[in-house]
Amino acid sequence: MAVITNAPRGTQDVLPAQSARWQYIENTLLRTAELFGFREIRTPVFEHTELFSRSVGDTTDVVQKEMYTFLDKGKRSVTLRPEGTAGVVRAVLQNGLLGGALPLRTCYVIPCFRYEKPQAGRLREFHQFGVEMFGPKSPAADAQVIALANEIFQTLGIEGLELHINSIGCPECRAKYQQALREYFTAHLGALCETCQGRLEKNPMRILDCKSPECHAVVEGAPLVLDYICDDCREHFEGLKKRLDLLGISYSVDPKIVRGLDYYTRTVFEFVSQKIGAQGTVCGGGRYDGLVEELGGSATPALGFAMGLERLLLQMDACGCLFPEENTCDIYLAGMGEAGSLRAQQLCYELQQEGFYAECDCMERSVKAQMKYADKLGAKYAAVLGESELQSGECTVKDMRGGKSVQVSLTDFAGQIYRLLLEGAYTEVIEAGEQLQKGQE
Ligand code: HAM
Repeated sequence: MAVITNAPRGTQDVLPAQSARWQYIENTLLRTAELFGFREIRTPVFEHTELFSRSVGDTTDVVQKEMYTFLDKGKRSVTLRPEGTAGVVRAVLQNGLLGGALPLRTCYVIPCFRYEKPQAGRLREFHQFGVEMFGPKSPAADAQVIALANEIFQTLGIEGLELHINSIGCPECRAKYQQALREYFTAHLGALCETCQGRLEKNPMRILDCKSPECHAVVEGAPLVLDYICDDCREHFEGLKKRLDLLGISYSVDPKIVRGLDYYTRTVFEFVSQKIGAQGTVCGGGRYDGLVEELGGSATPALGFAMGLERLLLQMDACGCLFPEENTCDIYLAGMGEAGSLRAQQLCYELQQEGFYAECDCMERSVKAQMKYADKLGAKYAAVLGESELQSGECTVKDMRGGKSVQVSLTDFAGQIYRLLLEGAYTEVIEAGEQLQKGQE
């Protein structure tokens, strides 16, 4: 039974009580991205496995150890997406979007899947907000995407994230660096884990972000990529730094960041938290100038980032960020007897059509039990509709927060409820103002 009653390890339910937090974050992310020109793109949850092995790289941890890959009924190998970039590049190419105006700016909120060891901030199904931008090679673009991530954190009230940046060069300077790494790691071959021994020839840079503890010690003394980058890459990196200074975005250069995915070139960056435990990287990204061509398009520089929403929430809680209050029920209409409950349902639907949050009974409860439920719901107003209300054509609307009751005609009911709600909101503002003034005196 445990298989049926427990969700798979590393997955999380978002329950109704938490969904308002998620909706608030997702709306804020998409709205802020829109201010920077990014529009949403939606791609499939699964793709052909080869898309990920070609783009993320077949010597990465993600591809070697973490993908949910299976054969479908047509015997094709498909993979639940471990990240968003590869699918977006595929969709952009397949739909010819690079033929339109450049830069092309896209963004997404998606579930991703990685078979990792679950811990705080690390799940097997997690959610990313990401952006991908196609066309620009100028460091102005790198500064724009970093500024967007920074603005998102500010809008959500998140503090204490450190921005770390680095440049990992282009394929030309990378070759020299890979050679230096090969020489260094060959001298420490016996101390590396088995997977990394296999990576040495093909992709020694992947040893730098291996998660096994034995490799960490060796990696500490490895050569740094920043010492190997060419003049063009250095100039590009200086250009980014100059722009971040200009925009007032503080950062530190961390020559140890290489990122865990193969497609990166030049700029890489991470926003890191010290407050949420070992999985402190809330956002990571960078340039991938070779990926579009690698996947069959014409050479097009590109860049982006993704942030994990679960880590974002952990950071928001750690910072005591505020979330908007949940929408509470405007009015509960209790029905007494057959005719009363029919009228209550009819009026309730009218109110909902006018944009109010209204509820009425569907549990066949007594009037007393209905009012108890309205109370639990935190409804602002409640009214009972029975024979006598139907005959008189009006009902008593009770202010559930202790205000006075008023008689309301059943004709133009919605209009009168609207006025009541407005008056209620006005009184609340006045009272809050008076409280504030008292506090200041
Ligand atoms: P990534 O660094 O692999 O980059 O993931 C980005 C973010 O996703 C991480 O910083 C973290 O917040 C979150 N994340 C990753 N794995 C997990 C996990 N198992 N559980 C919870 N959160 C996780 C990418 O995915 C790139 N596609 C980013 C990018 C976009 N680069 C350029 N464009």
